[in-house]
Amino acid sequence: MGLTGIFLITFLIVHAGVNSCIFLNDNGETFNKVAHFMSHNWIVRFLEVGLFAGLIAHIVQGLMLWQQNKKARPVQYYMNKAEKNSTWYSRSMGILGVLLLLFLVMHMAHFFVGTKVALYSGDRPHNLFEEMREVFSHGWIVGIYLLGIVALFWHLYHGFQSAFQTLGVNHKKYTPLIRAIGTGYSIIICILFALMPVAMYLEWI
Ligand code: HEM
Repeated sequence: MGLTGIFLITFLIVHAGVNSCIFLNDNGETFNKVAHFMSHNWIVRFLEVGLFAGLIAHIVQGLMLWQQNKKARPVQYYMNKAEKNSTWYSRSMGILGVLLLLFLVMHMAHFFVGTKVALYSGDRPHNLFEEMREVFSHGWIVGIYLLGIVALFWHLYHGFQSAFQTLGVNHKKYTPLIRAIGTGYSIIICILFALMPVAMYLEWI
């Protein structure tokens, strides 16, 4: 679960980086070029298969872990002040993950399906930037995206350091550093993602 988590964390850096080209304010020219390269390059296409396999593995591992935890303690603790020894977001990784999955289903319907149809039918150049503009012209969709990004923030905020802990990295000196990097990463990635729908809706770009 730690490894697939780190793989997905890496994907989000690339995804936020590529999408941030929209902020160049060149009417999506650079963004469309980079997106076109990404969807036509065979190495990236190969990695894309790995991405979906990684995502499914991460979900299955999460479900297995949840079941293992339930089996390990079928009878609840008589006295358990969960808030005293863990944070609400570490206890809510499952529900945050489910919210993210719902967000992803909608997200794929918006962007992934259309891109692939255009790629395989090949009858028109696909303008992803214009498609983004269309999707984010609806306030309610922007609202759902922002909720999805809030869920993503808490999932990453806990998941980042948790992934390293699962892999056995638990060190007096390095764990606080990993925690700090994880906090910075979660804040920067989520602010970038949140700015995308907001900037388009408010017509800043
Ligand atoms: C709100 C900001 C976001 C915008 C504007 C955005 C935009 C896009 C676009 C345009 C594509 C299609 C790319 C292409 O086919 O070339 C895409 C694909 C994708 N997005 Fe996002 N995205 C956002 C946030 C997210 C988040 C938060 C996640 C994950 C938690 C995510 C996961 C994915 C995945 C898995 C794909 C399919 C990958 C692929 O095409 O290979 N996106 N996104």
